[in-house]
Amino acid sequence: MSEKEIIPYRPGLEGVTAGISAISDVIAAENRLIYRGYDIRDLAQHCSFEEVAYLLLMGQLPTRAQLEQFEGELKAQRELPDAVYSVLRTLPKGGNLMAALQAGVATLGMLDPTADDNSHEANLRKAVRLTASMATLVANGYRILNGQEPVPPHPTLGHAANFLYMLFGREPEPLHAQVMNLTFILYAEHGYNASTFTAHVIASTLADMYSAVVGAIGALRGPLHGGANEAAMEAILEIGTPDRAEAWVLEKLAQKARIMGFGHREYKTGDIRAVILKQYVRQLAEHTGRMDLYQIQEIMEQVMLREKNLYPNVDFPAAAVYYMMGIPIPLYTPIFAAARIVGWTAHVIEQHDENRLIRPRSDYKGPRDLTFVPIEQRG
Ligand SMILES: CC(C)(COP(=O)(O)OP(=O)(O)OC[C@H]1O[C@@H](n2cnc3c(N)ncnc32)[C@H](O)[C@@H]1OP(=O)(O)O)[C@@H](O)C(=O)NCCC(=O)NCCS
Repeated sequence: MSEKEIIPYRPGLEGVTAGISAISDVIAAENRLIYRGYDIRDLAQHCSFEEVAYLLLMGQLPTRAQLEQFEGELKAQRELPDAVYSVLRTLPKGGNLMAALQAGVATLGMLDPTADDNSHEANLRKAVRLTASMATLVANGYRILNGQEPVPPHPTLGHAANFLYMLFGREPEPLHAQVMNLTFILYAEHGYNASTFTAHVIASTLADMYSAVVGAIGALRGPLHGGANEAAMEAILEIGTPDRAEAWVLEKLAQKARIMGFGHREYKTGDIRAVILKQYVRQLAEHTGRMDLYQIQEIMEQVMLREKNLYPNVDFPAAAVYYMMGIPIPLYTPIFAAARIVGWTAHVIEQHDENRLIRPRSDYKGPRDLTFVPIEQRG
């Protein structure tokens, strides 16, 4: 590219097109999200996570027979190799689960003799294995970090129900399995978000899929991205009661603090995923007798809209539903990872299929033409 063609710097790459993808589209102006051409509202209403994972990875909705085969492949690969459990057991108790996921995925990569095969077919096999493994890594990784024994995956439960089964050691209530399935679908894919873009950058060096996923997990951990669901729940608990919610938000805004779970780089008039999930916040609140949590969220939403014209993103209702399902807060971002693994791996496949090294430039703002002084003469 000649000097004349250099594109001006945009902080945060805002508005910059960094790739071409057929996986999903965030149509922010219409507050819509589509996966492979299908509206997220239809997928959320009608599909299992497995069906959506098939769609994202294979490019089309499965027939009944294709779905059954895919479900079988996922079930067969749910259990982690012993070496992964050995690694998890050596990690510090009470340590960060996102870091443990990185260690687990890196170990899975070292155990896979096809790790460096970046062909479409090999990548697809790895994507299915990683999708199956991540839920187990999250649930049993959490158990091990907290001094509990892992629970072997259930042989017949669906993906979301099995995740809750491993986490709690018992079969989940149908409503909980349904909500977990829904959040897995809503979290599965979202264009060139920070973690997915990280995966693209790593894959573009022709590094393997496991390396790309390890990097993506790191990017997801931050509170401006996946970490927001945990931070949002901490805030709700700090507020405590609905009567304190408005004053709390106003005080934070006066301090120029960010309220986690609000705002989005793309959506400026609402996040459809949050709208879809919100009805379950209410349902679970009624179910568990925690209408206070629902009310705190309602007030926070009203104040944020009034004061900042900001809408909740998917992390805001996700925090509340996970809390009311009894899920410990440090699991919220790892659960996001267990869903987004589908999007990450679909994007790595896309990157490897039509690769070009991602290597932007920076505008240098340091000094030039300094006179070099040998170390002996520096004061
Ligand atoms: C997601 C996020 C990083 C997108 O930010 P962005 O596109 O860079 O938006 P900007 O930082 O330009 O924000 C625009 C304005 O809204 C404010 N704003 C954005 N999100 C805010 C939030 N959650 N709380 C308070 N103010 C917020 C900014 O301070 C800025 O205000 P100003 O113009 O008075 O300075 C941002 O909304 C945020 O930090 N949200 C909280 C973290 C979160 O929930 N992340 C999950 C995203 S799915």
